[in-house]
Amino acid sequence: MTQNLADASRPAPVPAAEPIAASAGASRGWWRDAVIYQVYPRSFADANGDGMGDLPGVRARLPYLRDLGVDAVWLSPFYASPQADAGYDVADYRAVDPMFGTLMDADGLIRDAHALGLRIIVDLVPNHSSDQHEWFQRALREGPSSPLRERYHFRPGQGENGELPPNNWESIFGGPAWTRTTDPDGTPGDWYLHLFAPEQPDFNWENRAVADEFRSILRFWLDMGVDGFRIDVAHGMVKAPGLPDLVTGGDQLKLLGNDVMPFFDQDGVHAIYREWRRILDEYPGDRIGVAEAWTPTVQRTANYVRPDELHQAFNFQYLGTSWDSAALREVIDLSLDSMRPVGAPTTWVLSNHDVTRHATRFANEPGLGTQIRTAGDRELGLRRARAASLLMLALPGSAYIYQGEELGLPDVTDLPDEVRQDPSYFRAAGQDGFRDGCRVPIPWSGTEAPYGFGPTPGGPSWLPQPAEWAQLSVEAQTGDPTSTLELYRSALTVRRAQPALGAGTEVTWLEAPEGVLAFRRDSAEGSFVCTANTTGEPVRIPSPGRLLLASAEAGREDGEILLAADSTAWWAV
Ligand code: GLC
Repeated sequence: MTQNLADASRPAPVPAAEPIAASAGASRGWWRDAVIYQVYPRSFADANGDGMGDLPGVRARLPYLRDLGVDAVWLSPFYASPQADAGYDVADYRAVDPMFGTLMDADGLIRDAHALGLRIIVDLVPNHSSDQHEWFQRALREGPSSPLRERYHFRPGQGENGELPPNNWESIFGGPAWTRTTDPDGTPGDWYLHLFAPEQPDFNWENRAVADEFRSILRFWLDMGVDGFRIDVAHGMVKAPGLPDLVTGGDQLKLLGNDVMPFFDQDGVHAIYREWRRILDEYPGDRIGVAEAWTPTVQRTANYVRPDELHQAFNFQYLGTSWDSAALREVIDLSLDSMRPVGAPTTWVLSNHDVTRHATRFANEPGLGTQIRTAGDRELGLRRARAASLLMLALPGSAYIYQGEELGLPDVTDLPDEVRQDPSYFRAAGQDGFRDGCRVPIPWSGTEAPYGFGPTPGGPSWLPQPAEWAQLSVEAQTGDPTSTLELYRSALTVRRAQPALGAGTEVTWLEAPEGVLAFRRDSAEGSFVCTANTTGEPVRIPSPGRLLLASAEAGREDGEILLAADSTAWWAV
């Protein structure tokens, strides 16, 4: 691995953000260019040694995140849950699952984070609850006449004896999106809708009690001091009236994100966000909403961030783009052009807990999608991942980092079947079900598993870590200027020091050789050029300026710069 920095010296550290007071930053729009780190609590840090990450573990590691240089932390769900979908099946929205700690731990975590200058975003799961949620349990227990059934989608089946599902929708995790209930007298009853696992019944958002309950849940966590919500399946809450059959034949899952579906991205969802925005705005300190919305186009994604709706929406079209200069340029332009009319920043992301890590995606041939089973060429994948991350962090807008990507972690593609927990794995007709591979607990230190994830060498971790991860731990990478961790640390330090990075909404494309992206960003404080060589060969260009940072060492030849294969560099001009 080559040098990150031109002269191997880290840029002068920039002090981390000031402590955050509840009234802070009301009109600054901190989120517009924020770097936000996703913590997947199960796999971040395990304080009590039971093999499962927890909130005290996250709390103890907050200084690491502050030193990394991120602005905020998004926590995947830690609420009371039977864990049928790793916590995205919530039984009580106002309680912390004992597996993760207590409400006091959540309170302590939020306070500590604010004292360190870090904001906290929590996950909100409004499309569905757990089947163990009190409302759903009562709806089942009380039988067909229960008013609680109105809060979900209960329907009689089709066929002579109601033995067929009410429509032809399929679950995202495979199989039908409907499960038949048994009435209290033991006879087969109505069916209920679940776009995901059967343990995740969909709420009926036409019902006022559902809307009221979620407004109250928002206030509960806002009163706890959180700075925002990442809204799970933000495109799913409203279904087309009458729940019509899907008319397109073939594999429904292949259509997701590409086509208009009667259960996704319906225009009705926007009324919910306009209501929520008013609640967010009542609170001091610029609280935000972030949409996880899989839509057919970036233009449709922009609808979620209109001025009276949410603040950010993940750019999944960017996440799905391969390491190819033309494709990247096209998606960057399209994204910026789509967000400009609504005045929202673009929210870049390369990895999360649902997709194969980008170090592994880029190690494989393009076009395999975001659920990949093969390790591919690891060295190539890491080289490209480092370059892709620097490119992302040079773009205008906000960027999300998924825990472990700063360590260059690959997906674990060879987990034995008996340890897998992803519900889609067990509903084999669905997605490939390989999300466990990006959820393996991250390595912190030491030479024996769980590598500091838990307190005891040789102790448990809920998914096994590969032996090679000893070399990828935070401890192993700290202080090594060639490591991916130090590359991220340097990148975030430079980003804080250079307002031309992140801020604004424009890039100016510069002429560049085939396969190379070059763009300039300007701000009152200075200008900056980013070059990304997406080819497998070094490429010679005239020097763009003073090298700030590179994902792989740039050479010099006859007064020109030799960009390393699959590398990104930042230049001050
Ligand atoms: C979102 C989550 C994913 C979960 C699904 C159902 O896509 O990111 O992990 O399985 O929603 O809640």
